[in-house]
Amino acid sequence: MSKDPLSPPAADVSEAQIAVHWREEALIPPPNRFIAQANLTDGAIFERFAPDRFPECYKEFADLLDWFKYWETTLDTSHPPFWRWFVGGRINACHNCLDRHLVQHKNKTAIHFVPEPESEAIQHITYQELFVRVNELAALLRDFCGLKAGDRVTLHMPMVAELPITMLACARLGVIHSQVFSGFSGKACGSRISDSESRVLITMDAYYRVGQLLDHKEKADVAVLAAEQDKHQLEKVLIWQRHPGRYSSPTKLIGGRDFIVNDLLPKFRGQRVDPVPMPAEAPLFLMYTSGTTGRPKGCQHSIGGYLAYVTWTSKYIQDIHPEDVYWCMADIGWITGHSYIVYGPLALAASTVVYEGVPTHPDAGRPWRIAETLDVNIFHTSPTAIRALRRSGPDEPAKYHYHFKHMTTVGEPIEPEVWKWYHGVVGRGEAVIVDTWWQTENGGFLCSTVPGIHPMKPGSTGPAIPGIHPVIYDDQGNELASGSGKAGNICIRNPWPGAFQTIWKDPERYVRQYYSRFCRDPQSKDWRDWPYMAGDGAVQAADGYYRILGRIDDVINVAGHRLGTKELESAALLVPEVVEAAVVPVTDQVKGKVPDLYVSLKPGLAASDEIASKVVASVVSEIGAIARPRHVIMVPDMPKTRSGKIMRRVLAAISNGQDAGDVSTLANPEVVDTIKGLVK
Ligand code: WT7
Repeated sequence: MSKDPLSPPAADVSEAQIAVHWREEALIPPPNRFIAQANLTDGAIFERFAPDRFPECYKEFADLLDWFKYWETTLDTSHPPFWRWFVGGRINACHNCLDRHLVQHKNKTAIHFVPEPESEAIQHITYQELFVRVNELAALLRDFCGLKAGDRVTLHMPMVAELPITMLACARLGVIHSQVFSGFSGKACGSRISDSESRVLITMDAYYRVGQLLDHKEKADVAVLAAEQDKHQLEKVLIWQRHPGRYSSPTKLIGGRDFIVNDLLPKFRGQRVDPVPMPAEAPLFLMYTSGTTGRPKGCQHSIGGYLAYVTWTSKYIQDIHPEDVYWCMADIGWITGHSYIVYGPLALAASTVVYEGVPTHPDAGRPWRIAETLDVNIFHTSPTAIRALRRSGPDEPAKYHYHFKHMTTVGEPIEPEVWKWYHGVVGRGEAVIVDTWWQTENGGFLCSTVPGIHPMKPGSTGPAIPGIHPVIYDDQGNELASGSGKAGNICIRNPWPGAFQTIWKDPERYVRQYYSRFCRDPQSKDWRDWPYMAGDGAVQAADGYYRILGRIDDVINVAGHRLGTKELESAALLVPEVVEAAVVPVTDQVKGKVPDLYVSLKPGLAASDEIASKVVASVVSEIGAIARPRHVIMVPDMPKTRSGKIMRRVLAAISNGQDAGDVSTLANPEVVDTIKGLVK
């Protein structure tokens, strides 16, 4: 099989087929200048967090927070695998991100909001101002919408300061927020509204993307209808104005249902709302993510455990000090943004940057101009963004005056080549880099180097962070020896405070998908019998560093975001002409992976551009533009096993220009050559 040595394996390759394909890279020590100021440089931390200190070691995490009532039990494991952290404690996430900082930091910038148009001024929102705005909105949510602790609210907001303001206002009341990525379609938003049974949708009229003011309100109308089709009736839609005082959407408001937040807010001027002391294990938010079946699952994250986890990892892995200007270029619509734009940095009283637009707009120098203007010193992004910036402006970083002490990569494996550009050109060889491996379900980092302690290794995430104890199992459930260099299924032996609590309204799926495969005894009450299965293939090198190989399930990681193949296929099947659909991941130089969509048509129908466009349109309207297939390939028949299963592996090989291997056992081997002829 001809394989690009730098490309990660196709996502549908089973664990057993994953070969060790990247060469081991040399270790690079962190710069002394970084170590001299780092929050964590003492290797004894790993003794404090050794397995025999579990779970009490996590007190150190909880003690970074203010508790209204201190907790009694560090970890309750009486109902595996439903772990409860810091039981008995009362806490409020908003209080921890705002109120407690006012004494020392009220005049400090909490959020730098950078609009996409460079002609529009950057907004610097102080902790005091953020406190005022969050309180006024909390009063509105409570008194105008009647929202109370435990209610769900769906947010479908772009990257604007009003998004963290809305999240914090919900958190202040104990209301569970569910932010849906703004690039997702109205329909995708609607299914999340109904699944979470949200009472209110909060959105924005419009936002800037690649130089255009996009109508966003239209998606709210689609979302409400989609939720109604699921028999869920929303009470209200609240709409922020992108330009306060001016409604920027051509889509009409619906009387009695739609309300402009900016018009209502003056009624709540000066109001203060006491933060509600919530049980530590109450949910803070839901974050929907793709899984192996069609329906996205709402990962439920707790207040106490989650906040403790993101605060600790922000302090010691992101090395955030209160005086730092920290920019994570992710979208708050993903877990990275929740943990490492909003909750972690604000809990530490840092200044966090919220950038509205795409990194390469209007040119590939944009991020470095922002870094220069705001004096950003910690930078956090994904391999996709790094590849795009390297491609469109390899020499741009050198033109600007900025200095990063620390940089992060997250979301997908980074090719050593790309890592070296990030390190040498973006970081000027001065910044330490952490490659953080984790998932929506995990709340915060699982594996990463501790930047002031460990050397970096391009293309490898690093060892587990303090308190996390991974294990790699082969497909038969045998533990691979640590440092074996063999590929297997990476799992975490122990619970940790940031882990999600369940899948919203689907606890069985939570157990089945993450805890059943390697569970030693389903009756066991001992947490040691319940390793968490991440669903990624990984190898551990002799030096203890892990290399993540990619998903072992039917999930495609596009630009660092998970898309379920079933979701894409279901969207294609909505087109009446289509009878079968199969999605495969194709290696892409910028996005890592992009989907190719194979469809077969009803008998008698001929392939046409019109049908292909209908399929693309369906994917975009069901899921969003992020899922747009590279090609729609209309085939006379799918390659199938004798039992009728579509052989996605064969299609993936064709799409990636690789040898399809032995196809003689297929029911219809002759179709393989026909399909090869269709894919150019
Ligand atoms: C999947 C989780 C939580 C971060 C954003 C993505 C892949 C994540 C890395 C990394 C290699 C990575 C895994 C994981 N992944 N970080 N540093 N190196 N792969 O969150 O959408 O829940 O996706 O992203 O395959 O399972 P997500």
